[in-house]
Amino acid sequence: MSEHTMRAVTVTKFGGPQVLTLQEVARPEPLPTEVLVRVHAAGVNPVDWKTREGQGMAGLQTFPLILGWDVSGVVEEVGFGVTTLAPGDEVYGMPWFPRAAGGYAEYVTAPARQWARKPATLDHAHAAAVPLAALTAWQTVVDTAHVQAGQRVLITAAAGGVGHFAVQFARHLGAHVIATARAARHPWLKELGADETIDYTTTRFEDATHDIDVVIDLVGDTHDRTSTRSLTVLRPGGLLVAVPAGVSPELARAAETAGVRATPYLVEPDGAALTTIADLIDAGKITVEVEETFPLTQTGAAHTRIQAGRTRGKIVLTLTH
Ligand SMILES: NC(=O)c1ccc[n+]([C@@H]2O[C@H](COP(=O)([O-])OP(=O)(O)OC[C@H]3O[C@@H](n4cnc5c(N)ncnc54)[C@H](OP(=O)(O)O)[C@@H]3O)[C@@H](O)[C@H]2O)c1
Repeated sequence: MSEHTMRAVTVTKFGGPQVLTLQEVARPEPLPTEVLVRVHAAGVNPVDWKTREGQGMAGLQTFPLILGWDVSGVVEEVGFGVTTLAPGDEVYGMPWFPRAAGGYAEYVTAPARQWARKPATLDHAHAAAVPLAALTAWQTVVDTAHVQAGQRVLITAAAGGVGHFAVQFARHLGAHVIATARAARHPWLKELGADETIDYTTTRFEDATHDIDVVIDLVGDTHDRTSTRSLTVLRPGGLLVAVPAGVSPELARAAETAGVRATPYLVEPDGAALTTIADLIDAGKITVEVEETFPLTQTGAAHTRIQAGRTRGKIVLTLTH
């Protein structure tokens, strides 16, 4: 491997996990205002397998494609004009989204301000579990729903990557948090701050709760019409944030008829929010759950795992240099 090349998991056609191939490719170079990061760990998210299959953000990508948006690593080199980071700094981020970031690789370049200093109390594997899921939770709970103390917040799929952060952020803001997950996850979700838990395998949440101010729906209408059903638990004027698949015309009409609001949402890079989140993690207020790590050579197995939809917290790829 020369200093101009690196190992990366590339995709040259959409398909199953077998299209993920470890290759030697050109190492990126930082343009002015960009930072080259040596990747130590890369988080795996549902959007990764969806895009691999030709869904998700596939329409925005070109081949050869290097998937992966979540990165934790060390600054190797900074481009002209960068004053906020220097070689040797430990950083994490979710750069470029929804354009490809190329996280499943030994090096990534991205604008300096899309990175933040890695939480000091986390190793790289746990830091790489944070950006996309925690930014989604932060941007929905804080920036979109403006959750206030005392509000009742329902979070579906609370035990997953986004959900376990959303529970903690909503609780941190003083909300009353109601979480859906299978029963085995309930004690853990209570530890994270859920006030009430509903076992979605035995109970429909609309039979168990009501007068909700905000629903953060992480399941979507493709499974048992979860977004549409969640409209019925909202108080008048309440807000549904439909995270997985947005708001269809039918869902918008149903929300209007029910006298509630529904909004689509897409995560955005935000280095400043990642700094705030790192401070909360280092203060011990937010914990990060990594269910399993895989080496970069087993990216296909990691995709099979995340695609099963049963993850507790996060799945992460680790790299050795
Ligand atoms: N719009 C955006 O910008 C954006 C950003 C991030 C994520 N997303 C989307 O949001 C969704 C969640 O993402 P994620 O990263 O949190 O996924 P994830 O980590 O794969 O979620 C897995 C969790 O979902 C739970 N689950 C599955 N079906 C459920 C149901 N019917 N009711 C309650 N819980 C259920 C599972 O719990 P059990 O094991 O107990 O079944 C598991 O803990 C995905 O569709 C993802 O693509 C969108």
